Amino acid sequence: MTPRKIIIDTDPGQDDAVAILLALASPELEVLGITCVAGNVPLPLTSRNARVVCELAGRAAVPVFAGCERPLSRDLVTAEYVHGKSGLDGIELPEPTMPLQPVHAVDFIIETLRGLPEGAVTLCALGPLTNIATAFRRAPEIVPRVAEIVLMGGGCFEGGNTTPAAEFNIYVDPEAADIVFRSGVPLVVMPLDVTHQVLTTRARIEGLRALGTPVGHAVASWTDFFERFDMAKYGSDGAPLHDPCVIAYLLAPGLFKGRHINVEIETLSPLTRGMTVADWWRVTPRAPNAMFMREVDAAGFFALLTGRIGRL
Ligand code: RIB
Ligand code: CA
Repeated sequence: MTPRKIIIDTDPGQDDAVAILLALASPELEVLGITCVAGNVPLPLTSRNARVVCELAGRAAVPVFAGCERPLSRDLVTAEYVHGKSGLDGIELPEPTMPLQPVHAVDFIIETLRGLPEGAVTLCALGPLTNIATAFRRAPEIVPRVAEIVLMGGGCFEGGNTTPAAEFNIYVDPEAADIVFRSGVPLVVMPLDVTHQVLTTRARIEGLRALGTPVGHAVASWTDFFERFDMAKYGSDGAPLHDPCVIAYLLAPGLFKGRHINVEIETLSPLTRGMTVADWWRVTPRAPNAMFMREVDAAGFFALLTGRIGRL
């Protein structure tokens, strides 16, 4: 079977790192490149962290690109309070030796989509949507060439994690999210409604550590660190493993259930900035533009994740 070509746009972040590892461990996917964006931590760190993860996986040949260092029109908001100062706190890993690509991430996205057949490339968005929105604004002709965008972002019944109304990735750059959600590209959205069901319980973390590999140890260490904030906040047993849901969907879409509905982005109100206004009950005539997920087989998700991480 021909591997599915993907570009991972990301702001590592421990959960982004696990998502990248899951993709690199899966022969069903061909990672054309990893494009970094400012989000959890500033761009110099997200573009360092992506290379740390590639080298941890033994995949230093995967091209990594630095992209936008701030949102389209707002000041950057970061999340060191969740991810630590480095963005990958939890374990000390060597500084990367693989270089950043000299091309800007936005140019890589544009040129890759121009150079491959229409419908050949899936974009996997794990952070603020600044890079993708910038590419769409700069080269509108690439928009219909995108097969699908699978993104982690937003929330409906779960509300927000950054404000009561907004999830971090959308909150950071609502204007970028608005461009993507209005683009007409087929969207699959993994909101907090789903990611809050895939919790890094103690047993699941120990299952990763029991792999006995450097990668398994790193993932267990990251989730150990990452979960302290969410457990204090939600009183949950473990933290939501947000971004790997995007990659898991590509590998096993049957793990997830949702509805094709209209989702629009609040960009005007300071109170609800970045809210994904999801018409789950179809109470408006607004046209559906996103497959918005609400259910996940959490046990199946972690079985897939642990099995694949064990291959690295
Ligand atoms: O709200 C969770 C999302 O914000 C995840 O992608 C996490 O990595 C951060 O980017
Ligand atoms: Ca992320």
